[in-house]
Amino acid sequence: MDWGMENRFSRLFDQKSGRTVLFAVDHGYFMGPTTGLEQLDKAVGPLLPYVDALMLTRGALRNYIKPNVDVPIILRVSGGTSILAREWGDLLHEGITVSMEEAIRLNASAVAFSVMVGSRFERDTLLEFTKVIDEAERYGIPTLGVVAVGEGLNRDARYLSLAGRIAAELGARLIKTYYCEEFERVVSTCPVPVVIAGGKKIPEKDALTMAYSAVQAGAVGVDMGRNIFQSEDPVAMIQAVRAIVHKNATPDEAFELFNELKNR
Ligand code: R5P
Repeated sequence: MDWGMENRFSRLFDQKSGRTVLFAVDHGYFMGPTTGLEQLDKAVGPLLPYVDALMLTRGALRNYIKPNVDVPIILRVSGGTSILAREWGDLLHEGITVSMEEAIRLNASAVAFSVMVGSRFERDTLLEFTKVIDEAERYGIPTLGVVAVGEGLNRDARYLSLAGRIAAELGARLIKTYYCEEFERVVSTCPVPVVIAGGKKIPEKDALTMAYSAVQAGAVGVDMGRNIFQSEDPVAMIQAVRAIVHKNATPDEAFELFNELKNR
């Protein structure tokens, strides 16, 4: 890695643990005013001290985050379809939505692009993805590959390792995917670090257990959204997630911390 790439990449991680708690609040790019993010600034502000990097769109960054905030930004640069596109089988059929020049202007530490492996339009998203990677590499900006598999395919180790490996081979510096059984296989067959998405909101203890299992299986951290900002206490939840990622806390210990902070 050259100096600029390495510098931006290392900013995404906690220097002590070498792991990361990325906070994803980019949902509006295809879900509109997602529950918990209606007033994005109010949802994100109290959590910023506990975030290793913030993942969001340029519109959210410009309109909801003050420029003097000291947090690395992972800028979403793909989109083009809404949640409604699921009805006609086009969900995550994404293209480039932000130029690299704009990413640099916004001082992004990384850019994120979603690819859908195993769908009829996988070729479109994979080729657009490589265009972004070429541009990002030119300026020393790491690309986070947000990896999903086509509707109807199981989110299991077989398909997620296939998709993650493809995204890494195409040039992603970091992979974000879903947690699954035998997650070791997804991590060990991927040549770049892997973080997990949280997915739909589940009970806090279950989300903490998932984060723990992922990290124990070799994930370098999480890129969670809804399981933090839709929690009954997001500030307590992110600290509990941090305990797991950065301090190897067990799910029981982290859940105890969550309850303690919540009741304070
Ligand atoms: C999905 O394409 C988006 O990047 C989401 O923001 C992401 O999956 C993380 O959010 P969550 O933890 O809510 O799944």
